Amino acid sequence: MNDISPDRNISMELARATEAAALGAVPWTGRGDKNGADGGAVDAMRTMLNSIDIDGVVVIGEGEKDEAPMLFNGEQVGTGSGPQVDIAVDPIDGTTLLSLGRANAVSVIAAAPRGAMYNPHDIFYMEKIVVGPEAKGKIDLAAPVRWNLEQVAKARGIPLTEVTVTLLDRPRNDDIVSDIRDAGARIISITDGDVAGAVMAGMDGTGVDMLLGIGGSPEGVSAACAIKALDGDMQCRLWPRHDDDRALAAERGLDLSQVLSLDDLVSGDDCFFALTGITTGYLLRGVEVTRSGARTHSLVMRSRSRTIRTIEAEHHTHKVEQFLAI
Ligand code: FBP
Repeated sequence: MNDISPDRNISMELARATEAAALGAVPWTGRGDKNGADGGAVDAMRTMLNSIDIDGVVVIGEGEKDEAPMLFNGEQVGTGSGPQVDIAVDPIDGTTLLSLGRANAVSVIAAAPRGAMYNPHDIFYMEKIVVGPEAKGKIDLAAPVRWNLEQVAKARGIPLTEVTVTLLDRPRNDDIVSDIRDAGARIISITDGDVAGAVMAGMDGTGVDMLLGIGGSPEGVSAACAIKALDGDMQCRLWPRHDDDRALAAERGLDLSQVLSLDDLVSGDDCFFALTGITTGYLLRGVEVTRSGARTHSLVMRSRSRTIRTIEAEHHTHKVEQFLAI
């Protein structure tokens, strides 16, 4: 088999699990109950993941940060037959958004061959820079913000003042915001959800050229799978919150000064990514209630083939209820 001959693309199957998680989460919209929402999404995602012919291990789980329900690190998923893969899950990226009835909550899964994904252990935050294909190889997380903005402007052939950066609205990102303002570039500030933010930075036509700032490490590794498929570029560096994080990094042999390349975050070129909108956002429409059930919108990607699909699916309530406890 040569390198580009078609074979099974498991991202199409992963999309069924992000769709299920979105359907499991959406009844919790606006109910102010983050754990209830996470529980709905996790249960549905697990049920669907376990029907897929993969020998999967969750290496990037979610929930430990806030003790929410989770697909835990080390959990075996899939039927056990099929390819051995690392799985990164984020049943709801934007739990707060969903619980407050806000836009931009999504469900995410990424997969890569066993051992390919970077393990940030329990260092929860990373500095991130993400760009699309034009600026690939032209960014440097360790360089000043202005320099990176200039690189993107040059690569995109637009004035610096037209470069649009998305980043999480957090006090820890205030210095970056000041640097972007000083350079005269534009900011789309997001209150949560930097996986969708990273995908927007990597994808053409979203109006976002770049993602910057400190966000979650698990989200960074998941996003890296999408950025590979989008042929964009990404660098990260672990960001310790306090001395306990520094001690933990030393114990785990993690180098806090290392700028992690896209290949460090996910090695090789056969990773898969699926994302389904839960509440309508910048990137995708959310779950829409229809007469017979619900409609979902998903993005599905594979790095090896660089296929990017959008999938719109109709789900019938009485059918879904037969296998998901929704
Ligand atoms: P959750 O849905 O797990 O809360 O994650 C939302 C999110 O905004 C991520 O997209 C982001 O990477 C991370 O939280 C940032 O962490 P924090 O909210 O602690 O600043």
